This record gives sequence, structure tokens and C-alpha cells, in this order.
Amino acid sequence: MPSPGLNLTSDYYTGAHPSLLWEMTICQSLGDGTGTFAKALERPEAYGTLIAEFLSREASLPLKCGEIIEIGGGYGTLMAALLKVLKPRQITMVDISPTLLQKQQKHLTQYPISFHCEDIFSWLPTLKRPVDILILNEIIGDFPTITEISRGCLQACLLKPQTEPKSARLPSALSNRELLYEAARLVSTYNLNLDDLPETFNLNYGALLFIEHLAKTKVARAFISEHGCDTILPYPFSLYPLIQPAGNLNPRRIQLKDHNEYNIRFDHLKQVATALNFKVKRFHLMDLLKVRFDDEINYLLTSKRAINEEQEILLEFYEHIAEYQGILLEQ
Ligand SMILES: C[S@@+](CC[C@H](N)C(=O)[O-])C[C@H]1O[C@@H](n2cnc3c(N)ncnc32)[C@H](O)[C@@H]1O
Repeated sequence: MPSPGLNLTSDYYTGAHPSLLWEMTICQSLGDGTGTFAKALERPEAYGTLIAEFLSREASLPLKCGEIIEIGGGYGTLMAALLKVLKPRQITMVDISPTLLQKQQKHLTQYPISFHCEDIFSWLPTLKRPVDILILNEIIGDFPTITEISRGCLQACLLKPQTEPKSARLPSALSNRELLYEAARLVSTYNLNLDDLPETFNLNYGALLFIEHLAKTKVARAFISEHGCDTILPYPFSLYPLIQPAGNLNPRRIQLKDHNEYNIRFDHLKQVATALNFKVKRFHLMDLLKVRFDDEINYLLTSKRAINEEQEILLEFYEHIAEYQGILLEQ
């Protein structure tokens, strides 16, 4: 019988050379809103600007709010563009990577920001003050994922639950057996559906644990986006069979340079958040970006044949955003 494991990316990000070049996050691809990728948008803009507008519109975030916190802000690109629209009184960046935090500091020199080099799982339980919004963009796929859980072993744990939850300890400090009990705890507490999963499956443990920690804070809203494994394409994206996401509900390993991430089962996130009394709104990245669907794009997505480098880039970008979705939580 396979034994469970834990996928971690912390060594990679705290190491000497973490880089976002290999994964081309949506945020980095759109940059300041002027490159080739931005030609996919009806109204080319930096990603952070579009998020700011989305948050005002969909989460009633005031332009002059109290505090905004970004977790895992990478190179600081999102925050730089967001602050051109929103004018919070206080801004905080939290990141596990000292190298990336330094890049953020260089990118955001003109703003009075406090920077914290911390792992979210030890830092969030210490956050006691009210915060208007927490932003987590393309980071929850980096959070610890319990891999290769066998249904048989999980059933055995469900029959013999542990008295003490282990959620107060860092995921990396848990033994394989404790991880299995943690998986069983989440499945039974939130009634997570496993029927549609194979005999051995993966669970977005860190992402679910993050929501449990969040429910104990005074954070009013959270914006979370990531590659999803249960993404349904909205119209007119839905018209293109060649770019439909795989639709496999078992979180998939995404191999990157020197580390692996997992895509996210957002329906599980929603189930946990709803049970913890959050108001939950799921969205597809297309709702936020408003991508272009004219004759050129129609041909490209129907044929999947690019005739020049720019189309090559655009096609890759559309395929990339196809599986990308998000969730807005309010409490
Ligand atoms: C894939 S990058 C995304 C960067 C940026 N948000 C973007 O969209 O381009 C993941 C970011 O999350 C940070 N990170 C990963 N795990 C973390 C953790 N447990 N606590 C805090 N930051 C973390 C990384 O250092 C990095 O800045």
C-alpha cells in the first residue's frame, strides 16, 4: 500500500536562487500591462490594477481602506500596480523567501510598507489586528500537499480518530501517520467528497489549513487565485474543446524547476470556508481579466495553430489561464 508524503516548496523559496522565470505566473506575464501577453486582454492593464478594480467591484473594498496584506508577493509586481489604484493606510508584505522579499523591497521603495520574512503557517496565527484584505496570488499551490493518500488507510483513520488535531503544528513537522490523521480530520469535519477520486489521491492540505487559520483572524476579506483542478470554463471560452482543462478532480503535480506545485481543488476550499461561516464567491480568471475573443483569437483557439511568435505566446497564455480560477472570502 502506498504511504502518504508531503510536497513542500519551502526549501526552494528559502534557498539561494528562487525564481519566477520558470513558471511565468499570470502576474509576471502581464507585468505592467504593456507586453505581448497583455494583447490577450480587451483592455490591456497590469494584473494588479485589474485586481484592484475587481476587489472594489466584487468585494466592496474601499479605495481608501485600512490595511492590505499580500502573502507571497514574488517580485512585488502585483502590489506595485494595485497601489496605483488603491490607497490603503497600511501595507504589509509577508514572504517565506528572503531573496524575493528583497526584490519586493526594491520594487516598492516609494511606499511605506512593512516587510516580514515568515512562513504563513507560523505567522497567520499571530495576526490579531483587523485587516481589510489578504491577497494570495498563485501561492496556495506551493502550500503543503499531502500526496498518495490511500482511501483504505484514510478509512482506517476515520474509524479511529485522534483526540488532538495536529493543525497547530507546522505541516513539515508532522509524521506520515499524523498527516494521514490530519487528512482524515479534514475529510470528516468538512464532509469532503472523495467519491470522484482515484484509490490513491492528493489533498491540498496547506490550502485547507490556511482557511482554518484565517477563520480565527479579524481579516475581513481574502482574495485567493491559483491553477485549479476543478475549473469550468465560462462562455465563450467553453466553446473551444481543444483548450478545456483536464477536469481531473485529483490535484495534479505541476513540475517546475527544482520544485513541484499542485493545482487546487477549489470545491474543497469552498466547503471548508462555508462551514467556517465565510461568505464565498468563486470566480474564473476570465471574469477578472476580460480576455479578448475576436476573429484572430477564435481561429487560434479553434485550430491551436499559431502562425507567428506572438500568436504562439498568446495561445500558451490562453491555455495557461484556462485552468486558473479564484475564490473571494468575506467574514
Ligand atoms: C509562485 S510564487 C507567486 C508570486 C506572485 N504572487 C505572483 O503571482 O507572481 C509563490 C510566492 O509565495 C511565497 N511563498 C511560498 N510558500 C510560502 C509560505 N509558506 N509562506 C509565505 N510565503 C510563501 C514564495 O516565496 C513566492 O514569493
